[in-house]
Amino acid sequence: MNYNNPNLVFKEIPTGKVGWCSPSNIALVKYWGKTGIQIPANPSISFTLSKSITETIINFSPSKNDRCNLDFYFDGIPNAKFAEKTSEFFKKLVDIFPFIKQLDFSIYTKNTFPHSAGIASSASGMSAIAIALCDIENQFFNTFHTEDEFYQKASYIARLGSGSACRSIYGSIVSWGEIKELDYTSNLWGSRLKFEVNPVFKDYHDSILIVDSGEKKVSSTVGHGLMNNNPFSKSRFIQANNNIKNLLDVLRSGDLEEFVTIVENEALTLHAMMMTSYPSFLLMKPNTISIIENIREFRNSTGIPVSFTLDAGPNIHMLYPHSFKDKVQSFIESSLKVFTQNEVIHDNVGSGPEKLQP
Ligand code: PMV
Repeated sequence: MNYNNPNLVFKEIPTGKVGWCSPSNIALVKYWGKTGIQIPANPSISFTLSKSITETIINFSPSKNDRCNLDFYFDGIPNAKFAEKTSEFFKKLVDIFPFIKQLDFSIYTKNTFPHSAGIASSASGMSAIAIALCDIENQFFNTFHTEDEFYQKASYIARLGSGSACRSIYGSIVSWGEIKELDYTSNLWGSRLKFEVNPVFKDYHDSILIVDSGEKKVSSTVGHGLMNNNPFSKSRFIQANNNIKNLLDVLRSGDLEEFVTIVENEALTLHAMMMTSYPSFLLMKPNTISIIENIREFRNSTGIPVSFTLDAGPNIHMLYPHSFKDKVQSFIESSLKVFTQNEVIHDNVGSGPEKLQP
């Protein structure tokens, strides 16, 4: 599939505005390791979140000098790092959206969560920009025949910005990467699961315990690259494919015991991969371990099927069914909050990006 399209050039260059908010997502089976142009080494599946979102408004106007100039404001303040990152992203997209070179952009974003808290802000941020660019194409070139075409392209574009961002384009539970059992899946974009998911997962909770909101110790790009020489990577990719297969069964059956096993295995394997790379990274903090131990003890003593997962950082995502919301949240208050920076974000499975009326 090639989205390059030399016809997407304005005859009359417009001034305008588009706005989208897009959520973060939390992977249940992790993407860690890639090849080629953002092709995942193994498929992944995530919950799209509801409250951890990025709001992005893109103002565009005719370029002053026939090349794309870009300003980026984060929380209303100019942000040179994000401006550079977005400019690099736009450079990769000029064959797909040639109109980019005809425009100047002022991009305004804000997150509902700390942007370096280890919550995937690149997923929400890049997916919001990707979908906004597709919206510009849709408004001025009228190229999409169906909603599916629109979202598939948005997911493809988001993937080029940050792999996991391609899953944020859809709500609920999303896969990315070729899965043998699901013939509609692709390495190039995320897909909504097309089978009937057990209702227990439709309103699943994710309480994010912020253990450390500092900058990431290792960028995703470096982290993925380390898998090329990790002695365990081959087995890891086999394991991920097995976990995907088993997770698909669980998502149908609602077997929460197996869900806990898969999700925790994935989280700890992701960190094991970082610990066994050259150079190695230890991204958990002592409080991360304390929380994990407490969650496991709580689960054993109460029988409540709460599980934890981690991104490439020290913060804990606690996953649990809606029916245990009160019990789990009072456990967090009484026993776990002390291990955090006094910050817990109570999120849950959400319905995906929404258009803003800027
Ligand atoms: O999308 P990236 O390149 O930031 O990688 C994300 C990797 C993990 O968050 C650790 C796992 C995942 O699948 O989201």
